[in-house]
Amino acid sequence: MKYKKILKKINCDEIGYESATPDIVANFIAKDISERLRDLGITNINIIDCCCGIGNDALALSKVCNFVLAVDKDKERLKYAEKNAKISPCKNIKFICEDVFNLDIKNLKEEYGLNAAFADPQRRLIENGKFKRISNLAETSPDTINLINFLRTEIHDMCILASSNAEVNLDLPCEKEYIGWTGRKGKRETLLVMYFGNLKKYEKSAIVLPGSDRIYGIENKNKEKFLDKPLKYLYEIKDCVVKAGLQNELAKLTECKIWTEKFLTSEKITESNFFENRFKILGISDKKNLIENLKKINAGKIVIRGKIMPEEYTKMKNEIEDILEKFNGKEKIHIFLDDKNDKILIGKCIDFY
Ligand SMILES: C[S@@+](CC[C@H](N)C(=O)[O-])C[C@H]1O[C@@H](n2cnc3c(N)ncnc32)[C@H](O)[C@@H]1O
Repeated sequence: MKYKKILKKINCDEIGYESATPDIVANFIAKDISERLRDLGITNINIIDCCCGIGNDALALSKVCNFVLAVDKDKERLKYAEKNAKISPCKNIKFICEDVFNLDIKNLKEEYGLNAAFADPQRRLIENGKFKRISNLAETSPDTINLINFLRTEIHDMCILASSNAEVNLDLPCEKEYIGWTGRKGKRETLLVMYFGNLKKYEKSAIVLPGSDRIYGIENKNKEKFLDKPLKYLYEIKDCVVKAGLQNELAKLTECKIWTEKFLTSEKITESNFFENRFKILGISDKKNLIENLKKINAGKIVIRGKIMPEEYTKMKNEIEDILEKFNGKEKIHIFLDDKNDKILIGKCIDFY
């Protein structure tokens, strides 16, 4: 089957397609790895991709490295990867069908001059016919923790992909880089890239694709205090920044204050690639007067934000919109619930990124 939308001209089966790294991400990571190594004076890059799947990362790596050794234990997947390499065409990839743990890394390192390792373990497994996302590093295929321990004795400079929800408690220093991008059907996606050895540059970093702006920081114990009340404008922070815990750094960069874990606020309007949405605050209301206040600003449709169960969300939205409909309200208004629902923030989205 040929999928051309996200993965251009690529041959794969459905699982291979679902598991493949999108082009925009694969190309960015490959370039990032090669630049980190070049910064260290390493220009002859020979890398092993330990579980190459249909080859999207291996192909991206082949464009910026001298040589790629692409391994996968699945015969079918590897056949697709080989076909894709022929289409590209890439001549600097060697494919091996094998369980990575059966490889003699020491010998391969000598034979091919391997000086870096890459892996994108399977984190979307099929259970009862449905895809299930795995965030536990020990449950991926191959097991990410075992893979790191297996490789680290021979190859120190490693780049390993993981779920953005993965808890990383390793006895090895690593950089946690969270990459955000817009996936299929406009879905916001976030991925964790772990850099080990000399590939580690920061403690944690965040990037939004397309684009190359990076924010980075260290584990910060002195977090800036949250404001009790938002200022005139509110900014929803991109998930990659929230996951990296880099709200302080983003607040400094954009001259904003932190309102909550997921929102920054400012008196003067500002913009950033790291904002998901920007809102103008129109008012604050208690629950009792919410409808009256919404009527005053010509609200027709509402979006509810905050901790609310899906059934409650639909019920509350329908109840409010049914009343507003009678008054011909036209505006789409966002309401932000607080824990007690006594200070509901009312805002209007300025634009989308
Ligand atoms: C997420 S996919 C890789 C996708 C790939 N990065 C791409 O863009 O096409 C993970 C791959 O790991 C392979 N795999 C799982 N366990 C493995 C093992 N022990 N040795 C080698 N490959 C393995 C699976 O067959 C699967 O193709």
